[in-house]
Amino acid sequence: MRQGIINTYRAYLPVTERTPVITLFEGDTPLIPAPRLAQAITPGLRLMLKFEGMNPTGSFKDRGMTMAVTKAVEDGAVAVMCASTGNTSAAASAYAARAGIKCVVLLPNTDVALGKLSQALIHGAKVLAIEGTFDDALVLTRQICEKYPIQIVNHINPYRIEGQKTGAFEVCDVLGDAPDFHALPVGNAGNITAYWKGYKEYHAAGISTKLPKMIGFQAAGSAPIVDGAPVLNPHTIATAIRIGNPASWQHALTARDESGGLIGKVTDDQILEAYLLLPALEGVFTEPACAAPLAGLKKLYDSGYFNDYDGATVAVTLTGHGLKDPDRAIKNVPHPATVPATLEAVVRALDF
Ligand code: F0G
Repeated sequence: MRQGIINTYRAYLPVTERTPVITLFEGDTPLIPAPRLAQAITPGLRLMLKFEGMNPTGSFKDRGMTMAVTKAVEDGAVAVMCASTGNTSAAASAYAARAGIKCVVLLPNTDVALGKLSQALIHGAKVLAIEGTFDDALVLTRQICEKYPIQIVNHINPYRIEGQKTGAFEVCDVLGDAPDFHALPVGNAGNITAYWKGYKEYHAAGISTKLPKMIGFQAAGSAPIVDGAPVLNPHTIATAIRIGNPASWQHALTARDESGGLIGKVTDDQILEAYLLLPALEGVFTEPACAAPLAGLKKLYDSGYFNDYDGATVAVTLTGHGLKDPDRAIKNVPHPATVPATLEAVVRALDF
């Protein structure tokens, strides 16, 4: 039964019996085998999709946010704040509402998916759209939280990483061991950092016998880690990872190098192709950022990267639900034809 990640994994988290747990019963998301997708993009590999869109606010951010808001409340905070490309703000505003504290959100004034914006607003956060990028918003958020008594809940707050590492625990719990590879999208680079920490902790505790190679993918128009320099005006259809100067850049490199993995980039066309393929072949609808690692796996497979790994298990974190970004979906599929409400017209239109 879902009891929230803090109650499930409290032995691995910085909480005590007295910690007032703020939870929406996040976590315990499904690990979905994807044989039809594997056959299409990486034949011979065992793809397992960690569908984080099944969390209460529809993204993996709930894992980190239950921890960050719980600790904020434990420390007596009355307000939290974040910069966001959308999902962090959705989670922060929901958990703050649950805790009965204030939430302030800075968003870039372009490219925030509609579903995410609606979440922050409906939960009653104070939302400002700034004339700049996510990176600008994060700089401002840090400055404000240093100056005023507001708790920052971006993942530079270490409790966020603590919560998010439970995604790795769940993958191991379901598989019975760590996978051979773990692929995920990289934006601000908190999640790759968190998963790697989780895998290492389970390994050190003797629960898993091996460590996966961490494979991260950025969007080509927003790939500072791959290109080796900050990107001033990042652009991609995967708006969640439209980030030009990741806060956990160094930690991402550590995860990559310690695990023997890699961080690569894929074009928007490759992202779009994988974005459409996944729901058509497996019935799983995600937001575009989740397609980056899928497109990346295909690219690696085609280049021969997996030649020596036939039968290997590859876990992929699908970080956010497709309903977050309905505009993107609608833009890329044929729209329904409008027909008269008669049997004849419907049958004709169905081309039976
Ligand atoms: N996928 C989704 C759906 C995201 O929302 C994010 C980040 C990422 C991947 C990348 O994760 O930053 O830990 O490398 N979204 C943040 C936000 C930046 O504000 O919602 P990361």
